[in-house]
Amino acid sequence: MRNLSKVYGHGESRVVALDDASFEVHRGEFVLIVGSSGSGKTTLLHMIGLLNTPTGGSVVIDGTDTTWLSNNKTASFRNRRLGFIAQFSNLLTDLTVLENVMLPRQIAGRRGDGRIKDDAMALLRAVGLEAQADSRSNQISGGQAQRAAIARGLINNPSIVLADEPTGNLDSVSSYNVIELMKSTAKRLEQTFVVVTHDPGQFGDVDRVITVHDGRVSERRKLEPVVGSIGSGSGSGSGSGSSGGVVR
Ligand SMILES: Nc1ncnc2c1ncn2[C@@H]1O[C@H](COP(=O)(O)OP(=O)(O)OP(=O)(O)O)[C@@H](O)[C@H]1O
Ligand SMILES: [Mg+2]
Repeated sequence: MRNLSKVYGHGESRVVALDDASFEVHRGEFVLIVGSSGSGKTTLLHMIGLLNTPTGGSVVIDGTDTTWLSNNKTASFRNRRLGFIAQFSNLLTDLTVLENVMLPRQIAGRRGDGRIKDDAMALLRAVGLEAQADSRSNQISGGQAQRAAIARGLINNPSIVLADEPTGNLDSVSSYNVIELMKSTAKRLEQTFVVVTHDPGQFGDVDRVITVHDGRVSERRKLEPVVGSIGSGSGSGSGSGSSGGVVR
């Protein structure tokens, strides 16, 4: 992210949702984004996911400055490389839960992909929704819809997964299962995860935490333990020598 900014509206309704945000996310990192309501987290995640265009700055992925991609290229980049789990699950209500999960893989249209249904069912099992596979997606609970959206976000084995409050609607057991799923697939497939959350403690050990405050970003390299921590927040003394990113 290079000097990203986003301004919504004009005149009296003008809102600076992102203000000169620069940071890097490295391949395979598990990164959290935290910040109060309205601070700019969803705006930032949508920029990273090429779902919203910045008013300034650019998003560079694998050396490609995405500012200059055509709409078609952007769409195919998004479909092939990015998995997006939205803050509100936005499932297609005409389809069943299983059909929703299969859809991104069908759109990607890999030839001879006979495993779509098996893989979708495996993901539904992992999020505890096997029994709802054939339910219409407008006939399940909010938390179930959220878990279906997580399965849908992972079906293409995307190299970058962006998730906006994926556990926001879930009880602690479901949250735990979903986080375990995300962390284990991240490790197994060397995926990069960027996850917005209001409860970073749920995630245990992560690589970095990015804080958004009034549209400005700052970061901590490691999530520090809450229990027993004394004194100031940043700059942990664990001496683990991690290779962190840079915030300018
Ligand atoms: N489409 C939009 N048009 C105008 N203003 C917007 C729009 N989307 C977001 N904003 C404003 O931009 C700021 C950041 O919003 P954003 O949705 O990124 O916050 P957030 O950190 O995700 O909040 P929450 O935790 O409540 O989801 C807010 O002041 C919001 O009102
Ligand atoms: Mg949000």
